[in-house]
Amino acid sequence: MSNSLNLTPELRAWAEEMFGKIDAKMSKMTIRSRNKIPDGVDENGVHKDRFEEGKKWFNKNWWCNGFWGGLNYMLWAYTKNEEYLKTGKRSEELMDEALMNYDKLDHDLGFLWHLLSGASYKLTGDKASRCRNFFAANVLASRYVLNGGFIRAWNREPDWSIIDCLMNLPLLYWAADEIGDVRYKRIAMAHADMSIMDHLREDGSIAHICEHNRETGELVKTYGGQGYCEGSSWSRGQAWGLYGFTISYIHTGEKRYLDAAKRVANYFIANCSDDWLPRIDFRAPAEPVLYDSTAGAIAACGLIELAKILPETEGRYYLDAAVNMLRAMGEKFMNWDDNSDCMLDYGSVRYPCDGDLKKAGVHISIIYGDYFYTEAILKLLGAEFFPW
Ligand code: GLY
Repeated sequence: MSNSLNLTPELRAWAEEMFGKIDAKMSKMTIRSRNKIPDGVDENGVHKDRFEEGKKWFNKNWWCNGFWGGLNYMLWAYTKNEEYLKTGKRSEELMDEALMNYDKLDHDLGFLWHLLSGASYKLTGDKASRCRNFFAANVLASRYVLNGGFIRAWNREPDWSIIDCLMNLPLLYWAADEIGDVRYKRIAMAHADMSIMDHLREDGSIAHICEHNRETGELVKTYGGQGYCEGSSWSRGQAWGLYGFTISYIHTGEKRYLDAAKRVANYFIANCSDDWLPRIDFRAPAEPVLYDSTAGAIAACGLIELAKILPETEGRYYLDAAVNMLRAMGEKFMNWDDNSDCMLDYGSVRYPCDGDLKKAGVHISIIYGDYFYTEAILKLLGAEFFPW
C-alpha cells in the first residue's frame, strides 16, 4: 500500500541535514528536560514544565503532555541513542499521575498516550505501556455517544465533536488490532464518517467544532473554534483533517477516507500563500500576517503519507507541497540555538479575535510543532516507525 518517495539526491541531502540539526539539538534538550513535561518555552527559551506545581501553566492533564515523550521515542526508533529512550520512559512514568485523573480526561487520549505508551509498546514490547494504552483506549471508547455516532470531545459541552479528534482514533484502531476486537474500530470509523458528513464542507475546508442533537446525532450548528470566525478555515483544523483522514485510510483501506483526505489536501494547498508559510486561518483578513507553523508541520506529514499511498504521478503534487512548506519553515522558523529549548517557532494556539496576540498564544514555540516537523523529516528519510 505504501510507495517509496524517490527523493532527488539534493532533497535527500537537505532532509539529512535538517535531521542532523534536529538530532544535535534534541540530544542536548533530552537530557536537560528529562524530568519535565514541556509543551513550550518561557521568555528565556527554557522548557516550561506542565507538572511544576505553583506555576500558571501547571496542568498534568493538558492535551499536549504526550508529545515530549513521544518525540523522544520517535527519535530513539531512528537513532537508537539511549538518552532518548530514557526520556521517553521517564515521561511515561510521570504521566501515570495524569492517567489516574479520570474526571479530567477528555477525548485527547490518543495524543496523550498513543504517541507515548503506544509508541513504547510497539518499539520495546513493554507490557506496562500496553496496559496504559489499553486503559486510554477504553476511556476513549466510553466517550462514544451511541445515538449521535460521534466521540464527545470535551467535558463541558456534551454534544460537541471537534475535527482534532480524528488524530485520537489511531488509539482505537490499535486496540482493535491488538486484541482482535472490532468494536473499537467500529467506533473509530463511525466517528470518521461523522467527520466527513458534518465537519468536511463541500469545498474541502473544515469546520472546527460541530454541535449535535444528542438524541439523533444530527448537526445542530458549527462553530469557528480556534479560527477567525464561524465559517472560516482554521489552518490547524484543516491539517488535523488532512492527516486524520489519511490515517483512517491507512488503518482501514476505506477509499472514502482517502477521498476526504485528498479534498482537504487540495483545499489546503490551494490556500497556501506564495511563501508556503501557513497563516492561522485561511479565511482571516490578509493583515495582520499571522502564522501557524504547527499547521504546516502537521499538514506536511499528511501530504507525505498521501504521496506514499498514491501513484507517483499523482503523489508528486502532494510531496512537492509538503517539501515547499518544510523548506520555507526550516529557513524562516527553525531555531538552531543549542541554548534554547525552542525548535520550531511561530506556532499559534488560536486566532487572536480580540487582537490580544499574547493571550491567544500567537507566534510561540509549541511542542507539537517540534513533534510533527521531526516526524515529517523522518518520513522523507524513509523511517519505518509510524506512531499513529
Ligand atoms: N487540539 C487542540 C489544538 O489543536 O489546538
